[in-house]
Amino acid sequence: MKTTPHIDPQAPIAPTILLPGDPLRAQFIAETYLDDAQQFNSVRNMLGFTGTYQGTPVSVMGSGMGIPSISLYAWELIHVFGCTKLIRIGTCGAMQEGINLYDVVIAQAACSNSAFMDQYDLPGTYAPIGSYRLIEAVRERAKAAGVTTHVGNILSSDTFYNAIPDFNERWQKMGIMAVEMESAGLYATAAHAGVEALGMFTVSDSLVTGEATTAAERQTAFTQMMELALPLAQI
Ligand code: HPA
Repeated sequence: MKTTPHIDPQAPIAPTILLPGDPLRAQFIAETYLDDAQQFNSVRNMLGFTGTYQGTPVSVMGSGMGIPSISLYAWELIHVFGCTKLIRIGTCGAMQEGINLYDVVIAQAACSNSAFMDQYDLPGTYAPIGSYRLIEAVRERAKAAGVTTHVGNILSSDTFYNAIPDFNERWQKMGIMAVEMESAGLYATAAHAGVEALGMFTVSDSLVTGEATTAAERQTAFTQMMELALPLAQI
């Protein structure tokens, strides 16, 4: 089997892959939701697993934090290992009133302060968007399950701590729903390769109210989101 600097597969990788930031979360998902899970990667402890969900092969692997990390894994998964549906599952900070802790935010589009798009040398500004097909499928499932979702524009920030005092306010003014740190890179990498990607997140904290969740509470909300994300392997 082919190897890359970051992935040395000890088992096959499925066309659909879920990408949580934390590799231990990937292990938890494999152990909790997948049948016959086999570990395929351990390079840099970025654990990856492949199993089946209701009979359909699906992989799950940590992405690390930030656009450079998720994008290099996505690039290798797409170009070397043939992944065609990449789904980031993570947490985000809410930036608008009415987006509450534990709601699920779906990134229809992802703005960024990253220079990642410069590599495409486009004569303008690229707008990274999620797969409409995947967005629609998640929304339908969420409605049926009674899970509150918000679909719209998010910010994939290169900075968790930013020196600009009104950094958040300026993005909030543009209607940005939430902030995380990866999806714009994932979306652009997928678009450039002609494959599908989606970013969906549980709200772990609110930049509007200052509320935050505990690790234990995040686990419950995360479970709810997994039940929306895993069936995407079947469409
Ligand atoms: N900022 C960036 N990424 C995040 C946040 C945040 O406040 N919360 C969860 N992911």
